[in-house]
Amino acid sequence: MKGLILSGGKGTRLRPITYTSAKQLVPVANKPVLFYAIEYLRDAGIHEVGIVVGDTRAEIRAAVGDGARWGVRVAYVEQPEPLGLAHAVKVAEPFLGRDRFVMILGDNVIEGGIAAYVQTFRRASCQALVILTPVADPQNFGVAELADGQIVRLVEKPRDPPSNLALVGIYMFDQHIFEAVNAIRPSARGELEITDAIQHLIDRGYAVEPVVHQGWWFDTGKMEDLLAVNRCLLETLEPRVEGRVDEASQLHGRVAIAPGAVVVHSVLRGPVSIGERTRVVDAYIGPFTSIGHDCVIEDCEIEHSIVMEHCRIVDVHHRLEDCLIGRNVEVSRSPLKPRAYKLMLGDNSKVGII
Ligand code: G1P
Repeated sequence: MKGLILSGGKGTRLRPITYTSAKQLVPVANKPVLFYAIEYLRDAGIHEVGIVVGDTRAEIRAAVGDGARWGVRVAYVEQPEPLGLAHAVKVAEPFLGRDRFVMILGDNVIEGGIAAYVQTFRRASCQALVILTPVADPQNFGVAELADGQIVRLVEKPRDPPSNLALVGIYMFDQHIFEAVNAIRPSARGELEITDAIQHLIDRGYAVEPVVHQGWWFDTGKMEDLLAVNRCLLETLEPRVEGRVDEASQLHGRVAIAPGAVVVHSVLRGPVSIGERTRVVDAYIGPFTSIGHDCVIEDCEIEHSIVMEHCRIVDVHHRLEDCLIGRNVEVSRSPLKPRAYKLMLGDNSKVGII
């Protein structure tokens, strides 16, 4: 069995972060979202992984390489234009051949991974297996209508959802899916929808098995979802101190401090993850916060946030909360009069002022 991870797309809902970086490389619990998908496949016993890339191909390749770090072989599949998930399957056909495969959207994170579901698919004789999960806003997803535990209909982003069961962005197929992706037409949003391709399989009488996932699952296309995943993952963080913490500092609960990091005269209330070589001085870092590597966090308070690498947050006297801060960002007090907010923000930035 092979794995296919989709890592194209423009990430418009995560601008300005995605002007300079792929959405799949935003870190949650200090690890890029995409790496979780690779680990799910590896942990399910899949060692041949294709990654479908688009505009951000160079960055994805630089981050993932040949997969040796995970003990998998990674091949890259070019998708010249983001024309939909079913289109990605089409362009990946030469890589996939006649093998059964698992397809994962590279911005999806799921509690407990997928090993059990892959095991079910290995044993079953069905042509496809889809993972569903109850959501509060089914109109924003592909939605399944079930009868007697079987799928009768799938609809993409229905205005009037037939159920609250969303299609998680994790699918398992055999070679019949190529027949389907070649038969369907683009949807109203101009994409070849995988939801329509699976409906095509059902209409042809092929067996499409549903499984309902009960734990948490997120598609990290938006900032709130990234903060939520960060929260869920940090809850299971292994506390460990590999950096240096002085005697004046206090660590509470699950706190992980990476090698080379230094904590001085600060309070860290877990779950908190501090990246390599980061300096935390005279600071409070509150629950559900991950700080990337090579940052300086000094004389400030920050909680429930993701700070990426090489940031400087210094001398800020109101607490920072619910923040997603990109790479190389500086937030500091301006020493010059007049006393005013002095901002340099990229297009589509969001700032909450008190
Ligand atoms: C895609 C699929 C949708 C699925 C969702 C899961 O939506 O089209 O059926 O429920 O992923 O993340 P998109 O992210 O393209 O809006």
